[in-house]
Amino acid sequence: MPDYTNTIAANATENAMELEYRYGAHNYKPMPVVIERGSGVYLWDVEGKQYLDFLSAYSAVSQGHCHPHIINAMIEQAQKLTLTSRAFYNDKLGECEKYLCEYFGYDKVLMMNSGVEGGETALKLTRKWAYKVKGIEPGKAKTVYAAGNFWGRTLAAISSSTDPSSTDDYGPFLPGYEIIPYDDLEALESIFKSDPNVAGFMVEPIQGEAGVVVPKEGYLKGVRDLCTKYNVLFIADEVQTGIGRTGKRLACDWENVKPDILVLGKALSGGVMPVSAAFADDEIMLTIAPGEHGSTFGGNPLACAVTVAALEVVQNENLAENAEKMGQIFRKRMLDLQQQCSLIEIVRGKGLLNAIVINDSEEGSTAMDLCYKMMEKGLLCKPTHGNKIRFAPPLVINEAQMNQACDIIQEVFLQTNQAL
Ligand SMILES: Cc1ncc(COP(=O)(O)O)c(C=O)c1O
Repeated sequence: MPDYTNTIAANATENAMELEYRYGAHNYKPMPVVIERGSGVYLWDVEGKQYLDFLSAYSAVSQGHCHPHIINAMIEQAQKLTLTSRAFYNDKLGECEKYLCEYFGYDKVLMMNSGVEGGETALKLTRKWAYKVKGIEPGKAKTVYAAGNFWGRTLAAISSSTDPSSTDDYGPFLPGYEIIPYDDLEALESIFKSDPNVAGFMVEPIQGEAGVVVPKEGYLKGVRDLCTKYNVLFIADEVQTGIGRTGKRLACDWENVKPDILVLGKALSGGVMPVSAAFADDEIMLTIAPGEHGSTFGGNPLACAVTVAALEVVQNENLAENAEKMGQIFRKRMLDLQQQCSLIEIVRGKGLLNAIVINDSEEGSTAMDLCYKMMEKGLLCKPTHGNKIRFAPPLVINEAQMNQACDIIQEVFLQTNQAL
């Protein structure tokens, strides 16, 4: 009897892609692979092929796919209580808030769902603080952002974007925004000096979506000092860089600075469900009174159980330390590869948030071609901004898996380089 397994499986891939195309909005252009299952650093497609995941759902699945400790916490809680709304207390929220505040060193936390809601919470807190504490005239508060920033897709978030693919045909945008270059302390001081209505500076310690842009050493310390000097809130968007990703608990820990407002998301739940949070001390957090901000799902008991479990995994498995160690191996191998491969313009990153800038224009297709070839060989990643490929595996990756991934990258890059 003929073996139809492959035909059926190939159809499963095509069917899934066709269904998304036919019934879903065309707001994404995924790689042509249909994932069915995940465990640790591995993913399997509907044809049963195994891949090393080097994207981790944009750094959300830091604890590895379907981590049993997180999934068990989720199942246990889901069988008891999932949602109360904040109309009532629940027995999980306070415990989780205490855990979060102690873990990250703040007086208070405000839990939301997606990363962008965490950012929006930070912005609203900043404006409240501007009027109630700093004494800025009503309606005049400004917030400053760095060019190349990415903090999500709502209108508040894209109003600070310098990327036309995020902003085209979505105007008018939110007022009260100023944009300065990234990694430029002079520009920051100049805007603080010239405008007393500046209330906050929101910045990613490493710009993830812009292509893992790492600022010069001392930048975060400089931002902290300037914000303190000019009484401006330092808002760190650590949605992508936080929770061990860069080799420390927070990327800000590399320079021992504490932001006034810290925004986390993604790995806060180990990629199991949308959970985000904004952290601040009382002077800032208590400017928002009952009824002035919130979300039906924010701080729900299911999210709380999952969040505590997800952070326990990061701590118990020393994931920040592992990210630092594995990141060193990755960058060493990629820098060695660069010596033999003119395709590689830059290798950069910290911990397990890394990127290779390909020697091609932003409009060029080389980076995407490389990602397709790596996918064929069992490694999943995707370009960001045309010619940059981000490499961000789950932080549970071990040395053998890292070397296996580097072997695939090396083989694909060298073959492509030779064909040039
Ligand atoms: C730094 C940063 N902030 C915020 C966000 C938005 O998170 P979400 O997509 O969960 O809204 C992202 C998403 O990639 C991000 O990288």
